[in-house]
Amino acid sequence: MSRIIKTIDLKDEASTQALGAWLAPFLRAGDVVLLQGDLGAGKTTWARGLICALLGDTEVPSPTYTLVQTYTAPNFEIWHFDLYRLKHETEVWELGIEEALDDGVCLIEWPERIAGLLNGTELVVALNIKNGRRGADIIGNKAWKARIHDA
Ligand SMILES: Nc1ncnc2c1ncn2[C@@H]1O[C@H](COP(=O)(O)OP(=O)(O)OP(=O)(O)O)[C@@H](O)[C@H]1O
Ligand SMILES: [Mg+2]
Repeated sequence: MSRIIKTIDLKDEASTQALGAWLAPFLRAGDVVLLQGDLGAGKTTWARGLICALLGDTEVPSPTYTLVQTYTAPNFEIWHFDLYRLKHETEVWELGIEEALDDGVCLIEWPERIAGLLNGTELVVALNIKNGRRGADIIGNKAWKARIHDA
């Protein structure tokens, strides 16, 4: 069962990136992070913060049209997916998601598109905008909670 591990206000773009960078030291090959939130909630911004924390300052374009962008971090490949334009769940296999799930780290925007392929062990970063204020909840199972709190 998943629970909220951390809740945070995100007052500006830099705060969203900093939250991505915060997760960087906890990640290992095989991890899946689901980036939830409406259009423009800050999912790509969060991914940029994480990827730049692991690779150094690098360009992180939105995978809006390519659907996936990959990056080589020191200990694993990062697969950054944006599934908004996915038409059928099965199309995701053509993007290499099998290899990504096996030994990469997956960051997935619009994970709702592949709900049937998820198993509840993913870490969820839920970005929200309420009354013009932005924030995020980090949601995960016991194993994630332990990994983050015991670090
Ligand atoms: N905490 C924040 N405060 C203000 N602006 C922010 C914050 N985080 C991100 N932004 C801005 O919000 C805009 C949308 O961000 P981003 O592209 O990351 O959203 P997204 O969730 O990936 O959108 P999409 O659903 O289209 O992929 C960008 O201009 C970004 O700079
Ligand atoms: Mg995006």
